[in-house]
Amino acid sequence: PAPGWTTATDVVVVGSGVAGLTVALNARRAGLRVMVVTKAMLDDGSTRWAQGGIAAALGEGDTPEQHLDDTLVAGAGLCDEDAVRTLVTEGPDAVRRLIATGAAFDRDAAGEILLTREGGHHRRRIAHAGGDATGAEISRALVSAVRSDPGIELIEHALVLDLLTDADGNAAGLTLHVMGEGQRDGVGAIRARAVVLATGGMGQVFSATTNPAVSTGDGVALALRAGAEVTDLEFVQFHPTVLWLGPDAEGQQPLVSEAVRGEGAHLVDAGGTRFMLGQHELAELAPRDIVAKAITRQMQLQGAEHMYLDGRHFGAEMWERRFPTILASCRAHGIDPVTEPIPVAPAAHYASGGIRTDLSGRTTVPGLYACGEVACTGVHGANRLASNSLLEGLVFAERIADDLAARHRAGDLPERAVDVAAARAARPVPLPAPEARAEIQRLMSRGAGVLRSAASMADTAAGLALLTGTAYTHVAEEKPADPRVETWEAANLLLVAAALVAAAAQRDETRGCHWREDFPERDDARWQRHLITTLTASGDLVSTPEEQ
Ligand code: SIN
Repeated sequence: PAPGWTTATDVVVVGSGVAGLTVALNARRAGLRVMVVTKAMLDDGSTRWAQGGIAAALGEGDTPEQHLDDTLVAGAGLCDEDAVRTLVTEGPDAVRRLIATGAAFDRDAAGEILLTREGGHHRRRIAHAGGDATGAEISRALVSAVRSDPGIELIEHALVLDLLTDADGNAAGLTLHVMGEGQRDGVGAIRARAVVLATGGMGQVFSATTNPAVSTGDGVALALRAGAEVTDLEFVQFHPTVLWLGPDAEGQQPLVSEAVRGEGAHLVDAGGTRFMLGQHELAELAPRDIVAKAITRQMQLQGAEHMYLDGRHFGAEMWERRFPTILASCRAHGIDPVTEPIPVAPAAHYASGGIRTDLSGRTTVPGLYACGEVACTGVHGANRLASNSLLEGLVFAERIADDLAARHRAGDLPERAVDVAAARAARPVPLPAPEARAEIQRLMSRGAGVLRSAASMADTAAGLALLTGTAYTHVAEEKPADPRVETWEAANLLLVAAALVAAAAQRDETRGCHWREDFPERDDARWQRHLITTLTASGDLVSTPEEQ
């Protein structure tokens, strides 16, 4: 059966954070027809939750080369240097263009952009807005620009079911289920010359995360099912300082930005001892993986459920001016950072890996692009440097739009022939019960979180294998077997969880944010290379070390 409706455009962008909206605005400016589809509201993704800021060599004396050095060190030997060079050299102008689009950053009395520090940066390099509400300001500016461009069609509450490909395997659009009252309601299809996945992260694969509820790995799951390569999935970054709300806290947890440490707050144990001193030359501002591990180690050694972040010496005025969001969220949970240390523990924060792309955002499936957290451009390596993610979304989104525009001009972006009514999923989609989500999170947090071993991951993989559901193959059915967002989110979480464990189980070394208790050393001879994961036509996940 045919879907309820079909439409066509040049470029369909999935996701509406900094990456997706920047692609949309720039592709539109280049004269392409653009549609943006997003699972919830335009500003419901991770971008709006970003606190600390956006890193770029904007300050006096700073250079892209120094930003490159810090990024490579944090990436623990797995960054793609060309990608990092692209990021840091194009970054400053990309931030200036974002300002021209309407984002207002904090400035001093002379009008200069204020810069702060975060973990792994040897300089003040992080531009911020509203004190600690940088993502919210970027999102506001981009949403407003996109909404005021009548040439960009927006579809909210749109769950993408599957990608459409033509007979030669080129991306040709997507099918989706729109839960609204508008013209485009129910199951439909969008045919497009190019598809851009900008769906954000997969933090919801763990029980406690800084990511919003919508971050369910949808883009990586879609790409795997379309036959694309994904890489570096084992490198999930745990943010060191997330407000600790009790042992059973689940779902999105309040972030306490690294910028709080950047401005001088200390990590202490219950006795007030600064345990980061002597562990790294940058102490509390060591790269994020090092701080998260040190906190976890102290918690183990002391049998504690959390450590503390002490910023009492800031005083009330500074807390209110510089960190109003964090102050409010701590106070909402009964903690007053002005008078008491904040209980903190690590929680899942950022997927350093994702859909493998080149420097133009092209994936291994022709016509399919990926951008932002869902992508792996190679800039993060084994551990992303703080505040490089908004910048990556911005810089590589511009590059994707440039690539699309150039291809369009050259006649290299043809319409693809696809029989939507007859389309079948390239890989079957097992649809588990929506309740599987909580079990996936529990299994992943227990066996594949901050601490991993062969035994813990074998338990996790075995538990995940029990959660399969009925396979759904007909992508364009008017009434999908189970159209609930919760069901498809559980399906996506299940696939990305299994892919993550497959990669993490193979990498028998410790590197960046992948910490193996049974292989505590870094092994450059064997493992200074990426693991590429694909889904075979019969639905098996295969992780293979990249050729050297
Ligand atoms: C933070 O504000 O600590 C988050 C920054 C980031 O994840 O890059």
